Amino acid sequence: MSELRFPDAFKWGAAVSGHQVEGHNRHSDWWHWEQKGDIYDGTRSGAAVDHWNRYPEDHQLMVDLGLNAFRFGIEWARVEPREGHFDETAIATYRAMLESLREQGISICLTLHHWVLPKWVADRGDWTNPDTERFFLRYVERMVEAFGEYPDLWITLNEPMVVPLAANLAGEFPPQRRSFRAFRRVVQALLRVHAKSYALIHDRVPNAPDGGPTMVGVAQAYPYLEAWGSTGLRGCYERRMEQWSRRLVFRAWDDALATGELKFPIGRGVIEGLEDSIDFCGVNYYFRMSLRFSWRCVSRLFIDIDSIPEGVEQSEMGWQIWPQGFGPVLDEVWQRFGKPIYITENGIADAEDRHRAHYLVRHLSELHSAIERGIPVKGYFHWSLLDNFEWREGFAKKFGLIEVDHTDPELARSLRQSAKLYARIIEANAIPTGASEDDGPD
Ligand code: BGC
Repeated sequence: MSELRFPDAFKWGAAVSGHQVEGHNRHSDWWHWEQKGDIYDGTRSGAAVDHWNRYPEDHQLMVDLGLNAFRFGIEWARVEPREGHFDETAIATYRAMLESLREQGISICLTLHHWVLPKWVADRGDWTNPDTERFFLRYVERMVEAFGEYPDLWITLNEPMVVPLAANLAGEFPPQRRSFRAFRRVVQALLRVHAKSYALIHDRVPNAPDGGPTMVGVAQAYPYLEAWGSTGLRGCYERRMEQWSRRLVFRAWDDALATGELKFPIGRGVIEGLEDSIDFCGVNYYFRMSLRFSWRCVSRLFIDIDSIPEGVEQSEMGWQIWPQGFGPVLDEVWQRFGKPIYITENGIADAEDRHRAHYLVRHLSELHSAIERGIPVKGYFHWSLLDNFEWREGFAKKFGLIEVDHTDPELARSLRQSAKLYARIIEANAIPTGASEDDGPD
């Protein structure tokens, strides 16, 4: 492969979320839920990787890697541990993080909500309680007042459909309450708070730090969903379910965001201020999911989503490694919204770092082709900067460019080989010829 150059001023970043790296997010719903012992590997977030105290070291590692952008988030539960009580010490720490990034010349992508709620909000019925919208907007207002001058990119919500799907339909995330009614209420609440947060940020923050327009978006999960390809009636059913799943997982949300109108299955009617309420699209892309008819999967409407077609590689999450799906996802997002795109997450669970270099190069190559086709992809945030607390999977799954053993009291950081390849790509602003062959067994 010859060298693939990226546009000047391309943002090369990495991403984390607060709860997954900071540690001791004690006033959150996840923290309390974890104590029940339902995390698959028996761990709890605990000190996580102590980014809360070690952020200067982590920022230095980012500088060493040459990153020029960082995506991280504010934990609502940390800044407002009790209703209406804002913790000024926590706010000061976030400010210090933002200052440190600015001093290092690293662009900031700030997430306001990455799935986790304060416990006091969850106790009152989470997003199914209409008051939560008011509480959230008060929190956003405070954060905009406190930090408005820093973000180059604002992300109101991370993967907004994952919470209702995982918590309210699949029953796997807290509060594990399976109800279609709750699912719709949560989706609608999230759409409303996104629209209002969008307006609020634009109202209070006239410009981005570089003097350009304020940029507000959502980081949306876009799995590449595909029918398995069975023959006959099974194949017809799979294709129908592919369309239906796409609608359920992201299409309905995206259409609502583009038009302001709710459609089945997320509701009906219009949400004021929602239409066109994004300045950029945040794309989280990880894998392909193949939908296969199976009599055994009664509760999933006879669709098996865990089978892997023969010969397809999978990550330690059991996810299909499918860079071929990245381009079509980008085409679709570009056609739907016509806005600049940032890859807000892309990465692989790979404890031994055997596949990450290859994964990175293959996905960046697809990204490069998309840019060549004229799609304005402006930046790439690798998930993740650090090994972290991987939600229900606990610490067992390792997504980090930087390795951290959470059982080591020192929580020492060490760069993985693939991180060094990423640093070379960033330095060259290009995928160098032959990259990845020299960087891992793949
Ligand atoms: C989430 C991250 C998570 C990653 C890997 C994304 O859907 O935003 O928080 O760690 O996937 O599972």
